[in-house]
Order: sequence, then C-alpha cells, then structure tokens
Amino acid sequence: MSEKPVESLSKGEAAEELKRLAAEIAEHDRRYHTEDAPTISDAEYDALARRNLAIEERFPDLLRDDSPSRRVGAPPAEGFAKVRHAVPMLSLAKAYTDQDVTDFIERGRRFFDRDKDLDIAFTAEPKIDGLSASLRYENGMFVQGATRGDGAVGEDITANLKTIVDIPKTLKGSGWPETIEIRGEVYMTYAEFEALKQRSAAVGGQDYVNPRNTAAGSLRQKDPSVTASRNLKFFAYAWGYTTADPAPTQFEAVRKFGEWGFKISPLMVRARSVEDLIDQYHRIEEQRSSLGYDIDGVVYKVDQLELQRRWGFVTGEPRWAVAHKFPAEQAMTTVEKIDIQVGRTGTLAPVARLAPITVGGVVVENVTLHNEDYIKGFDSNGQPIRDGIDVRIGDTVVIQRAGDVIPQIVSVVVDKRPAAAVPYEFPHSCPVCGSPATREINEKTGKEDSRRRCTGELICAAQAIERLRHFVSRGALDIEGLGAENIDLFFNSGLVKTAADIFTLRDRRPAVTRALAERREEQARLREEASGKTRKNVRGVEERNYEGLDKLFAAIDARREPELDRFIFALGIRHIGETTAAVLARQFSTIEELIGVGKETAKAEDPHTVFPSINGIGDTVINALRDFFGNERNDDVLDALLAQVHPKPYVMEISDDSEVAGKTIVFTGTLEKMTRSEAKAMAERLGAKVAGSVSAKTDLLVAGPGAGSKLKLAGELGVEVIDEDTWLQRVGKA
Ligand code: IVH
Repeated sequence: MSEKPVESLSKGEAAEELKRLAAEIAEHDRRYHTEDAPTISDAEYDALARRNLAIEERFPDLLRDDSPSRRVGAPPAEGFAKVRHAVPMLSLAKAYTDQDVTDFIERGRRFFDRDKDLDIAFTAEPKIDGLSASLRYENGMFVQGATRGDGAVGEDITANLKTIVDIPKTLKGSGWPETIEIRGEVYMTYAEFEALKQRSAAVGGQDYVNPRNTAAGSLRQKDPSVTASRNLKFFAYAWGYTTADPAPTQFEAVRKFGEWGFKISPLMVRARSVEDLIDQYHRIEEQRSSLGYDIDGVVYKVDQLELQRRWGFVTGEPRWAVAHKFPAEQAMTTVEKIDIQVGRTGTLAPVARLAPITVGGVVVENVTLHNEDYIKGFDSNGQPIRDGIDVRIGDTVVIQRAGDVIPQIVSVVVDKRPAAAVPYEFPHSCPVCGSPATREINEKTGKEDSRRRCTGELICAAQAIERLRHFVSRGALDIEGLGAENIDLFFNSGLVKTAADIFTLRDRRPAVTRALAERREEQARLREEASGKTRKNVRGVEERNYEGLDKLFAAIDARREPELDRFIFALGIRHIGETTAAVLARQFSTIEELIGVGKETAKAEDPHTVFPSINGIGDTVINALRDFFGNERNDDVLDALLAQVHPKPYVMEISDDSEVAGKTIVFTGTLEKMTRSEAKAMAERLGAKVAGSVSAKTDLLVAGPGAGSKLKLAGELGVEVIDEDTWLQRVGKA
C-alpha cells in the first residue's frame, strides 16, 4: 500500500486514515510501553505520528477523541496496581554535540546571571540503558517499588523489585530520611542476557532481542520467581519524594545511597567546566565496551541541590540536567545472502550474511533477521507499512552496534536497491530435511508464533545434530571429550544417529578410529595447504588419537547412570530446561514413572485428570510432555537409549544432623525467595517433615506476608513462628 500525500486526501479518506493511524499508533504505544517489545524503529514511529498530525492540521474538525496527538505514552499494563508517583518521574533533555553541552551550561550561567561569582558544579555519570524504577523507603524499610509508567502513574512491581539483589530491603547505615523514594535504573548485563538466550534456545523458548527490552519484560512478570531468575541489576542515581534532602549536593547524595546499601555508578565524577564534562564523556565512552552492560550516553546534573531547585523544570524535564548521547555506531554494507539455520527444536532462524564491515571496532559478518515477520515491511515505494524491515539479498543496509554487542540492521538504503532484488521469500519447508515448516498457534494468546518450525523432528538432520549436541552438553549428560565437533563428525560419518548410538561407539572402535583418522588427515592437509609446508609426524598424531579414544570411551561409560534430572533435561523436550527437569525428577523419582505418566497424559482428553498438579509446572510444560511422549517415533529412540543408560532414581539426600531434622514444619503466606515446592523439598532434604496445617504436633511455622489463620492458630498453640529470612538463616541458606 502506498501512502497518498496529505495534500491530496479527500475528507473521507482523511477520516479513514486518522482512524487507522489512531489504532496503529495505539498498538505501537502498547508494544513499546506495556510490552517493551517495539516492532518499529523510533523513526518509523515518528513518521506515523507526523502523518497523523499533518492530516489533523489540514482537517482540524476531524480530530478524534482517541487521537495519538492528545496523549503521551501508554497507560500502565493491566494486571499491576497503579502507583501515583508522589513526585513525577522525569525524563532528560538531550545533547548530541559538544555545542549542545556548551549551550546547556551557558543557559545556566545566564539564569544565575545576578550571582556573578556563583560557582556552578556538575556531576557526570553514565546514562544506563535500562528502565527506571522508584523505590519507596519508610523508616529505612523498602515498602513499595514502581515503574516509571507515563511519569505520573506507574505500576506497582514491589514483589519483582524485591528479587533484585542490588536493591536493599532495609537501608544500611544511618541518617536516611524518614521517607525517601530512591530512583535508579534496572538493567541486565550482557552475560546474563546471553545466558538467558541460551537457556531459552535450549528449550525452544522465546527469542530475546536486546538486554533492555528483556530487563523490562523480566520486571513485568506475574511470578516474581521468574524475575528472580533473570538476575537483574540496579544503579541508584536520583530520588523523588523525600522528607529531607539526603545531602546538600547531588554528588554527596548519591554517595550516601552507596552507604545505605545501593550500587552506585563508579564512573560518577564532579566537574566544573564544559571541558571537564566533555573529558569525562570521552573517558566513559572509552570504557563503554568493557562495562558489560549497555549505556547510551553521559548524564550531566547541576551538583548543588539549592541551584537545582532554583533552576527548576520545563515540561517533564529538569532544566538542571542533560543527557549527552553517544552517537550510534553505524556502518553500511551489503547483504550477500540470507541463510536459514535450523535449531534443536526446529526453529528456522534467518541470518543475513554480510560483506564484512567494521562497526565500532568489531567486524560484523552476520546479523540475525529474527524471524519471518521481521523480514517484511516496506512497500514498493520503500514506505514502511508493517513491522520489521524488508531486507532483500543484494540490499545495502545500515548496521548498528548501539553499545550492544549484538549488531542489528537499522535500515535499508532503498535508493541503492538493485533493480532485480525481490522480497525475500521465507521457506515453508525445512532447508535441511525438506519437511513442512509451520507456524504454531500459541495456546495462551491464540496468536501465531513468530517463528516457523520444521515439523521433521526426528528425521531432520539439523535437529538431530542439535539434539545430540544438547544431549552431551554441560547441564545434560556432560560427556567429557564429546563436544560439538566430535558429535558433528560422528553424525556426519553415520556413526551416531541418536543418543543411544553414543553408548555403542566402543563396539565400533575400528570405524570410530577411521573417522577420527580421516578428520586428522583432512585437517593436516588443510594446514599444509595454508602454510605451504610439508607434513611430518602423521603417525604420532594417530597414536595419540588412540589414547584419546580410550579416554573418550571411559568418559561415555562414566555416564551410563546419570542423575535423573540431567537425563530428563538431556532428552531435549521443548520447554524443559534444567530447573523444570529437576522439578520433574523430584516429583516422579524414576524415569519409568515419568514415561508412564507422560504417556497416560498424552492419551487423556484432559491432561489434568492424569498429570498431577505441581508447583512450577504449567500447561506449556504439560503440553510439551504430551507431545513428546505421545509421539510414537520417540518410543523407539527412548527404548534404545534406556537399554544403554540407566538413570539413577531420584533420592532425596536426607541429612539427620540439621537443626530442623525430625521437626514438623508448616509454611504459610507468601514466600519471596523460593517457591513452595522448593521450600518443601529443602525442608525434607534436611530431614524435616512438612505438613499442610498447624496442629499441636507442629514444631515450627514459617510465615510470609499475608499469613492468616495458620499464623493465628500457631500463636494460640504456642508454636514457634519465624519469617522466611530467619528460616533461610537457620538452614544455612541465607
Ligand atoms: S536522572 C531528574 N541519571 O534516562 C533526572 N537518568 O531520559 C531523572 N537514566 O528516565 C533521571 N541513567 O531511565 C538519570 N544516570 C542517570 C540515568 C538516567 C539512565 C534514564 C532514566 C530516565 C531517562 C531519561
């Protein structure tokens, strides 16, 4: 669809267009503010908003009640209680050039014109690319935490914020105001982001685009234990409502936050001149790539609070602060081809192969195109019409590494598009095995999954190889010496097709030796070609090789009786990561039990009539188990595997010398640091008995917030009551 210029719209068309734009912009607002998963760039969003405004200017009487020009941002997500910030959460004015910074300081000098000798000081600190949160402390206790929302009203995410280790539950030291709202940034490190991506890929879970959006999504979880598992971090850098100034200056105030137990940026400094500020800007910029988390600029703030107050605010922004943004690191290159990679769970992942280009000091050759929808989105005139970026083979693209390690395509230079370039056609069959590739409908949302998946499962070589790699990987069977490289070799030479074959390799020693020797030969030949030197000592290589083989066979044998949870994880069932595998192991104790229940569940019309209700196991996992155990092709593979491997039944190691051994314990109220089933398992491991209700036999009640009748009864019966932290201390887990 190509857009008509605003000047040539009829009134009827304009009305239609405004209606469409209102809906479209509202949807993008929602994606950006509520889901933290924007699907268009800021520039594209601005283009939509500008078009809306231009039409309204031409036809003022068509202004709609729900026009995007009437509102800013999106209302808080449903589901969390709203919190009105006692002092609004502001944003910052931006500076892009040194001149902008000079102007900022000049404005300040002019404002305080009459105080000729006034010595204005500033602070400079990194601008963290996360999302801001406001934390209310009363008498040193963390009582409520909220997102920024639209600046005036945010969402109450106290329970989730409590899981962040950098956020103290009670303030340390002394001298804190009776009530103070500490403000700062919640963010995710690259390391954590990569680990999460890997965990998710291992179970065929969702795709994560960047640390910022992932941090935001992690904070909006209904279940705080999910937030906890994301290991978010927090820097304190400002405050809102307070009953007393924390200190006379910004610098000292933030230092105080550090004394009270917060993490504060070690890169914050005090400066007095434009030169000092710009110096610090460059110093921080130099450290940017080694910080381990995203920053997107440097924030300058007037240091003296008294001057901050005098200088005041403009709409939504303090006059006394400015964010000096880093230029995005961008470069242009061309797309040579688009490959489709097939993951263990069959996901078809498109990757653009680029003519190598250096962006921000790193050579970029590949860039993910995320999924099918992402590679659509421009009409024949180069106008954005849908989500994503219409990337074609041969296109010139702008690549960006905006501080993140992950390069992305920011735009396509449509002017440079070769005449013959056609929109990329996403394959509907698997490039590896040829099976149909389909998009599933998410049962919860009813929406189509953004990713296309190969339905070939067991016949698909790509999936098979990824499954095998997973099977021997660290959290799974962890077979030493059997890494991805050897798996590839054994798979490609036909020695290992399924996991069971790994355990019969010893019986095929001559063939294994041949495969390894052939690879050595090949590698030596390649080295020789590369260096021009002749080969020596080939025999020696082969002899060492035999020695290695005995080690490999021994390592394989050493894993014939794996722990049950590792074995379940190793099976590579979708959505079953290490944690879920451990929960299942605890619940079912033996693999036979799990298989039995899995098969019954697969047969049952309503899985819940068969599958027990287990804390931490929801429909996604139950359905994945149904699919796996209901698939007859998996039976043979599993039977063959279990003929070789005997997972150890799960036995709880019960200790009898712990403080709680032999005691009867009841948990009540909300537990904040662990799930009920974890708490129960922990108590049982320590030799305690866990009961569901309080009676005269109860020795100990562990009560979290919201405890009711059980707490009351315990009081009446004189049962000892402790909170979760004390419990953790007592069992040595605090
Ligand atoms: S100060 C009154 N300091 O940037 C000043 N903000 O564009 C309030 N941000 O919403 C903010 N690092 O999410 C401040 N060191 C820093 C920051 C920072 C990141 C974010 C914050 C704010 C946004 C404004």
